[in-house]
Amino acid sequence: MNVISYRGGINEYAGDCLVFFIKEGDFSTLDLLQDNTKKILKKIIEAEGFKGEKEKLLKIPLGDRVKSVYLVGVGKSVDDEVYRRASALGVRQIKKDKYKSGLFIGVDKERERAVVEGAILGNYEFDKYKTKKDNENKRNVEEVGLYMGDEENIKLGKIFAEAQIYARNLVNEPGNVINPVTLSEIAKKLAEDKGLECKVYDEKDIQKMGMLALYSVGKGSSTPPRFIHIVYKPEKPKKKVVFVGKGLTFDSGGLNIKPGDYMRTMKIDKSGACAVLGIMKAVAELKPDVEVHGLIGAAENMPGGNAYRPDDIIRAKNGKTIEIDNTDAEGRVTLADVLSYASELKPDLIIDMATLTGACMVALGEYTAGLFSNDDDLARSLEEASRKTGERIWRLPLDDERLRKKIKSNVADVVNSGGRYGGAITAAMFLQEFVGEGIKWAHLDIAGPAYSKEDFFYYQKGATGFGVRLCLEYLLSNT
Ligand code: BES
Ligand code: MN
Ligand code: ZN
Repeated sequence: MNVISYRGGINEYAGDCLVFFIKEGDFSTLDLLQDNTKKILKKIIEAEGFKGEKEKLLKIPLGDRVKSVYLVGVGKSVDDEVYRRASALGVRQIKKDKYKSGLFIGVDKERERAVVEGAILGNYEFDKYKTKKDNENKRNVEEVGLYMGDEENIKLGKIFAEAQIYARNLVNEPGNVINPVTLSEIAKKLAEDKGLECKVYDEKDIQKMGMLALYSVGKGSSTPPRFIHIVYKPEKPKKKVVFVGKGLTFDSGGLNIKPGDYMRTMKIDKSGACAVLGIMKAVAELKPDVEVHGLIGAAENMPGGNAYRPDDIIRAKNGKTIEIDNTDAEGRVTLADVLSYASELKPDLIIDMATLTGACMVALGEYTAGLFSNDDDLARSLEEASRKTGERIWRLPLDDERLRKKIKSNVADVVNSGGRYGGAITAAMFLQEFVGEGIKWAHLDIAGPAYSKEDFFYYQKGATGFGVRLCLEYLLSNT
């Protein structure tokens, strides 16, 4: 779907429908219409009792040149998220009614980016494997016009949304299509297309580099692990930022195998990695004055004759030893090496994204990511970016030294599971062991929000692309 700025007259618009964004009780944008049309609409609005409440939509069939008019309410509280949702609501209705195009009217300049995001994300569907579409004569919305839209806002909105769709598409691919090797090929292709540097390390390189934690997790699978390093380097970078993504292309649990119900959807255990790729794609297009590195430890966690076991002791890249208590706590083991590598790059900061723990979903619910950080300013900036983007995060503590003792091992430096209580926190504390001294670091546990069980405004059932919008917003507003 394309989004363009429409600068013609509204009464001359040649598309299928008009979508008016209505602030509660304020119908002034309808003044742009011809008097007689406006009169008819006002009567219907009154009869229907529509006031412009947020998350409400009123459809008014016209049957003229423009086939329908929709009013989407944005209520009284004006923030980006309300507009993002209203926009998705509008685009979904256009799609349902099988129209090809619509003109969005009444969007303030400051909300245009969010509206473009909402429209593109709302129109998204992952149906490439359906040989027979649910609805044979279904149509995709081809074009949305933004009335008097600002070109720069539209461009930004498109870059943000398309990066998220790129991530969603990858996450939605199942484990028989995306494995560590194919994921690394996709990363290479992205780098080539976008003019980024990309180095892929195979299982031999991984061992030579001392990344035995990542290697061990990948051992049980017949598809070997890969380590992916992508770089965007501008002329005079002001900062160096590293994004790290958990890239478990499938998490069966390994020898501590998951029961069937829990194994289902574990193709999404690569969501952090796919978010990193989405971010790198957008960074290549946005060209900020920051050096940005994307690191992915890709592996498939499988039981098998060569699988790593409970009781195994593994030395990670930074020299610390890990005792394996549970092979299903594999994400933190892979990230141990990737965070060690990230620290050797001596960056200003590291942000990792990982579908790390079910415990984080127990703590915060499935719509909010856990935020952990060793730096208050970094945490505050991410919280600010969260408010702006509508991607919910909530900070959890790392200062409970008594809890930290749970990841101490009797036979090694750390153990990979700290038990049931505070599971998201002990997992984050485990990661912290592999972050170099003095490096600012934030960890986002996205186990919940990476996947949506139901349609919700700009989310379709399936992968959400969570983290992409948040991290891009953080990058743009902190550099
Ligand atoms: N990938 C899972 C976490 C997860 C669970 C992500 C549900 C998305 C939805 C992770 O590797 C895992 O299995 N974690 C275990 C850790 C435990 C064995 C200490 C968990 O959360 O149960
Ligand atoms: Mn697991
Ligand atoms: Zn996992």
